[in-house]
Amino acid sequence: MYERNETVDEERLSEEKAMLDDIASRLSGFGRERGNLIPILQVIQERHGFLPPHAIKMVAEYLGIAPCEVYGVATFYNQFRFNPPGKHPIKICLGTACHVKGGDIILENFERKLEIREGETTPDREFSIDRVACIGCCALAPVATVDESVQGHMAPSKVEGIILGFQIEKERKAREKKRDESGK
Ligand code: FES
Repeated sequence: MYERNETVDEERLSEEKAMLDDIASRLSGFGRERGNLIPILQVIQERHGFLPPHAIKMVAEYLGIAPCEVYGVATFYNQFRFNPPGKHPIKICLGTACHVKGGDIILENFERKLEIREGETTPDREFSIDRVACIGCCALAPVATVDESVQGHMAPSKVEGIILGFQIEKERKAREKKRDESGK
């Protein structure tokens, strides 16, 4: 099972506050017409990598429309995401060739291993899972990308190996940090 760090992070709260301040200042650069909705969402997504729930409310208030209308438009276009991208983004191809070779089973394996669904991010923001359309490596199907590197001929055991690899690396870094701190 993937180990989560559940501690509430002060840093994250101030990060969120800074994000909302930034969004508020960007909004002021737009007129309050409904036609500006998509450009506003694009600017927020480009700057922050996702549309936080508070941002949806802020945009709705700014344009004088209902939050569900903003949400409805944002979900219609799959360029928008609603969770912060993970430090290690995992994308599973579900194009035709990958689908035929069991891409959905690979997606399910990552979901089970990380205990999140596609479009979500682990609470410690280490991993996010998304499905993508054909990325042009059909001969390697089923394919996933992990940290932008292409992983071909994916199998459930490879999913285990990838996540385990990250955990081992994380533990190694934590040990090194501890050693460095105790050596000071
Ligand atoms: S369908 Fe997955 S790489 Fe083409």
